[in-house]
Formats: sequence, C-alpha cells, structure tokens
Amino acid sequence: MPERRLAVLISGRGSNMEALARAAADPGYPAEIVLVLSSKANAAGLETAAAMGLPTLAIPAREHPTRESFDAALTAALEAHGAEAIALAGFLRILTPGFIRRWQGRIVNIHPSLLPKYPGLDTHARALAAGDTMAGCTVHIVTETLDDGPVLARAQVPVLPADTPETLAARVLAAEHRLYPHALADFLRTLPPSGNPGAAPMR
Ligand code: GRF
Repeated sequence: MPERRLAVLISGRGSNMEALARAAADPGYPAEIVLVLSSKANAAGLETAAAMGLPTLAIPAREHPTRESFDAALTAALEAHGAEAIALAGFLRILTPGFIRRWQGRIVNIHPSLLPKYPGLDTHARALAAGDTMAGCTVHIVTETLDDGPVLARAQVPVLPADTPETLAARVLAAEHRLYPHALADFLRTLPPSGNPGAAPMR
C-alpha cells in the first residue's frame, strides 16, 4: 500500500510530532510527513521538524481576523502540499465545522486523558482532583465536538500517590509518544487514498 501523505499540526513543543516523524522515517511506516504546520511562528516544534528535514510552515492564527479565514488558510496549505490526512499534535486551535467537514474522517488527535473523561484543558489536575488511580491518553478521530469522535486507541498509566500535574503529565506524555505512532499507523492503513480534491484527476 502506498504511503498516505500526512500533515502534522502543532502549536508548541512538538514532542508528539517528533515521535510521529521518527516512526515515519521507517520505510515500513504507512505515512510520509509532507508538512509540519504550526499555528504559532515561534513553536519550538518547527525547529525540531526542520532539523529532521521535514517541510515546515507557520500560519500564525493571530494574523487571521476570524477562525474561518485561519482555517481556509490551513486548507489551502494542506491542499498545496497534497495532504491526505492530518494528525493534530498539541494543536491549540479549535477547528471550524467547515474545516472538519472538508477533511471528514481524515483528522486524528491525541488527547492527554482517558476519553470520554476530561475533554478540554487541565486534564492531569482534574484526574488528580478526582482521586483517579489511572490516567492516560486517547487517540481519536476528530469530529465537530471537541475531544469527541471515534476512539482509535487508549493507553493507561498509573497515578502515583505523590503525583503533581507535572509528574503525571510527564508519565502520560511518554505513553503518548508510544501510542500515537502505532494508533495512527493502524488508522492510516484503513484510509482510502487521496481525500484531496487538489490531487484528484480532472473530470
Ligand atoms: C500533549 O500532551 C497532547 O496530548 C496535547 O498537547 C500536548 C502537546 O505536547 N494535545 P507536544 O507539543 O506534542 O510536546
């Protein structure tokens, strides 16, 4: 099966992007990363991606007056790079329904909780406040509802008695780096080609 053309969307550190890029460097991996796109010009992950030889682009969200114009710029860049699928990796923007419909069933996200528990922010503090004994992360398909959509995979880690949000976040992040490349690969192997009208033959 040919490799799927994958774009990775980031806003910051980019450690999940790096985990995906390391996996995708293996010739047997079912994706080629055609673009690492950041919503922030100063995202550290852009430098990491460039150092790994990946194409990078910043589309600063703050330069767009509306979410619709930002998302239209995203789609234009994704189409220009022939993207067939999108992996969100610490992308701190809520996507518009129009964008999600354009890329229906082709956007995947990783979230640092065991969804459906704790959608949204501050997941580790919320897990600690609730007295949870297990925490973790979830890879899911993106739908129009935030941190919802069909679950592709979850990974669990223990919550330890002395945990702070920071120590728990670090343990979950290590699990994210293990889970995301595998869950994404399984998903991409089931994905039909293209999905990119820009790449489709003329009729
Ligand atoms: C990760 O915890 C991810 O689950 C969440 O944002 C964080 C991004 O970290 N969506 P990084 O930029 O991949 O290092």
